[in-house]
Amino acid sequence: AAVAAMPDGVPAPHRVQDRTVAPEPAPTNGFVNRPDSDPAIAVNRAWADGIIARMEHSDLGVATADAAVITDVDDLDDLLVGASEAAASWRALGPDARAEILHRAGDVLERRRAELLEVMGAECGKVIEQSDPEVSEAIDFAHYYAEQGRRLADVDGATFTPVGLTVVTPPWNFPVAIPAGSTLAALAAGSAVVIKPAALARRSGSVMVEALWEAGVPRDVLRLVQVSERDLGARLISHPAVERVVLTGSYETAELFRSFRPDLPLLAETSGKNAVIVTPSADLDLAAKDVAFSAFGHAGQKCSAASLVILVGSVATSRRFRAQLIDAVTSLEVGLPWEPASRIGPLIEPAAGKLLRALTTLEPGQRWVVEPRRLDDEGARWTPGIRDGVQAGSEFHLTEYFGPVLGIMTAATLDEAIALVNRIDYGLTSGLHALDPDEIQTWLAGVEAGNAYVNRGTTGAIVQRQPFGGWKKSVVGPTTKAGGPHYLFGFGSWADAAPAA
Ligand code: ALA
Repeated sequence: AAVAAMPDGVPAPHRVQDRTVAPEPAPTNGFVNRPDSDPAIAVNRAWADGIIARMEHSDLGVATADAAVITDVDDLDDLLVGASEAAASWRALGPDARAEILHRAGDVLERRRAELLEVMGAECGKVIEQSDPEVSEAIDFAHYYAEQGRRLADVDGATFTPVGLTVVTPPWNFPVAIPAGSTLAALAAGSAVVIKPAALARRSGSVMVEALWEAGVPRDVLRLVQVSERDLGARLISHPAVERVVLTGSYETAELFRSFRPDLPLLAETSGKNAVIVTPSADLDLAAKDVAFSAFGHAGQKCSAASLVILVGSVATSRRFRAQLIDAVTSLEVGLPWEPASRIGPLIEPAAGKLLRALTTLEPGQRWVVEPRRLDDEGARWTPGIRDGVQAGSEFHLTEYFGPVLGIMTAATLDEAIALVNRIDYGLTSGLHALDPDEIQTWLAGVEAGNAYVNRGTTGAIVQRQPFGGWKKSVVGPTTKAGGPHYLFGFGSWADAAPAA
């Protein structure tokens, strides 16, 4: 089945601007590195293991990874067919009763906030500065989609019919908000859901699912699975009962999913290689702070992260902005997830492949202005890095790395800077720091990105205020944005209502 088109009269999704310009001083609180042999690491590892063990034996019991692992294709087929059959009862509840349950899910997530922070820190290395707003985002999704679900029933002249079964395959980097958002959207539209949390974040996803069950989402309507084998994964998304697949992951994973089933009705938000342009009209203090936060929040492991900053005109040729940026970045405390002062935690896995290369190797013409340093033997903890002199067309210009490394590029004019951004295959987020209204208009008209942020960081889209989704190779399937007014349309189809008798 084709993914739903918008009904007539509904405006197309628009790009987002946020013109918050309140300046804040750049942080200058000094940089703290823990030595490799810090005994606190061993103590804290035990703490993390304790948290994880407790999650595995939670009161609700069934949300442990082991209890949910499926190793047999017949079991998987039964589960998918069962979920699809259960969709009828969920649909029959109607939008108001569903909305009530989803609002309650928001309340349960709020009540279980501390537990969610613990598991995200222990399992994914997420620092509290990042995990706390993530729980808030999940709660926002619950309340927002609850109301959007009601709205679907209230469109004049068209009737919305939800799909029966949606499979949700979220990423590990937002282990609560993204699985929650995708699941709540499908449920709000009236679909049943089978969710497979990312293997590296299965406990975080499990606690989120438990919260939804606790709120009253029936267990046969929302099912949690783990499949370890690739052929079971392929079956999970290509079984004929599956009518939608929501993927947040790399562009390559979306291609892989399509290779399993060419007509896959996929809603996929994929990779990003995002840049912030800073012009001479910018509030440079604010720009330095926003670039530092956007590049290194969650150690750069975000599809929305700023991986490039492009300095225009006199910002490129003077030392001032670079000095401010270096100050802001070296002020970010690298620490362990449960230490409230930590700004950069450990990577989800030791750096390898292209990320390890990006943290250790320069291309011709580049130099480190802040050289990343490995803080442990395995290579999971790094101080942030900034390389200057990134050339147009180089690997660093065009590649997504998903880690704590930022590149500086320069451009003579704003138009040249926009051309550097648009040369990238992806188009997820993009930033401009400029106070000149003409520059802002020029950039908005020219830049190819789903979420275009003015005088704000590129990460942390707010539900409803900044619906989130990309262009170009940052999206596969329809471009309705998560947290926006059209997202639920992806989980069903529209037909003209029968004429009144
Ligand atoms: N929605 C996440 C962000 O905006 C990816 O950072």
